[in-house]
Amino acid sequence: CGGDSAASGGGGAGNDTITMGFAQVGAESGWRTANTKSVQESAKEAGIDLKFSDGQQKQENQIKAIRSYIQQKVDVIAFSPVVETGWDAVLLEAKRANIPVILTDRAVDSEDTSLYKTFLGSDFVAEGKKAGEWLVEESQGKSEVNVVELQGTTGAAPAIDRKQGFADATKAAPQIKVIASQTGDFTRSGGKQVMEAFLKSNPKIDVVYAHNDDMGLGAIEAIEAAGKKPGVDIKIITVDAVHDGVQALADGKINYIVECNPLLGPQLMDLAKKVVKGEQVPQRVVTEETTFTQEQAKTELPNRKY
Ligand code: AHR
Repeated sequence: CGGDSAASGGGGAGNDTITMGFAQVGAESGWRTANTKSVQESAKEAGIDLKFSDGQQKQENQIKAIRSYIQQKVDVIAFSPVVETGWDAVLLEAKRANIPVILTDRAVDSEDTSLYKTFLGSDFVAEGKKAGEWLVEESQGKSEVNVVELQGTTGAAPAIDRKQGFADATKAAPQIKVIASQTGDFTRSGGKQVMEAFLKSNPKIDVVYAHNDDMGLGAIEAIEAAGKKPGVDIKIITVDAVHDGVQALADGKINYIVECNPLLGPQLMDLAKKVVKGEQVPQRVVTEETTFTQEQAKTELPNRKY
C-alpha cells in the first residue's frame, strides 16, 4: 500500500487491501447516479475499500473531502472535479503525502501534470462536435436555424468542451446561429427553468442543444407547457444517453443523442491497482462512445440499464 495505514491506524483496511478515497461531484443527473453506482459496485468487486463523498456540486466540499482522504492516508485518491480550475494546492498536498491521484470523468486545467497519474474519461470536445455535425447535416438547405444552448455547470470541463466542439462543428454552416446560451447546471430543473425563460424572450427557436439529457428532459417539460411539440416544433439534441433520455428519443421528443459513458468503475479500479503498485499507466484513457438516432434508440432502449 502507498500510505502506511496499518502503522498510523489510518484509512487502510489492512495490509493488502487498497483503500480509495473518491470525491464525487454530486447527484445532479441520471448520468452521475449511474457513475456513482458503477464506482461503488466495481470497488466491491475488485476488493477495494472505498471511502465515498458527495460534493453536492461544490468545489470546497470536494477539496475538504480530498484533504480528509490525505489525513486518513488512503492508498489512492480518485475524483471527478466539478470545475476545471483551482485544484493545484490540494493536489500538491496529495503528491507530498505520496498519495497517487486519478482524475475520473472530468479534467483539471493544472499545468503541472505530475499532480495526477492519469485521467480516465470521455473526450467532451468530440461529443460536442458529434452534436454539431448532426445539426449541420440536418440544416442543409435551410436558410435560418436558431439554436438555444443549455450549458452544463459553469467552469466544468464538459460544459466548456461541449460548447467548444459544437461551435467548431457548426462554424461551416452560417445559417446555424446560437441565439441564447445559459447554464442549467446539468440538472432537470435547471434545464426547465432556463428553457422557460428562453421561450419567453425568443419567438423563433428551432433547436435546443443541451449539454446533457437531464437538461434536455427539463426543456421538454417547458416546451410542452408552452403548447409546442418537442422533437417536432423544436428539435432537441442532448449528450449522455441515459435511460430516460433514450426513452424520450425513442418517443420522438428528442432528435439525437451523443453518448457519454458513465460506467467508468471497472477501468478506474484497474488503474488504481496499477498506480498503487507503482506501475506505469497511460496519462490519458479515453472512453469509447457512440451516437443514437430515434430509430437506433428503439433498439437500444431495452439494453439501457441506467
Ligand atoms: O461530467 C459528465 C457530465 O456530468 C454528464 O454529461 C452530466 O450528465 C453530468 O452531470
